[in-house]
Amino acid sequence: MPKEREPRRVVLDPDGPVLVEGPVEIVMEDGSTVVFDRFMVALCTCRRSRDYPLCDTSHRRKTRGSAPGKLREE
Ligand code: FES
Repeated sequence: MPKEREPRRVVLDPDGPVLVEGPVEIVMEDGSTVVFDRFMVALCTCRRSRDYPLCDTSHRRKTRGSAPGKLREE
């Protein structure tokens, strides 16, 4: 008798990626598929990632901090 499938947990970050419990298989826009065998996969929703479809934290805005020349993330 087949085991019941458990729901896969997906966490939405309103200012960042979608976190999906891995492993995941992603169908890209060109029809190709990529498989990520990680425990948790962060999928980019802002399209700024240089590692798309994975989030590389490029969604974080950088602003000038109080210290000269320093950037801080918001
Ligand atoms: S959501 Fe993080 S880089 Fe796009």
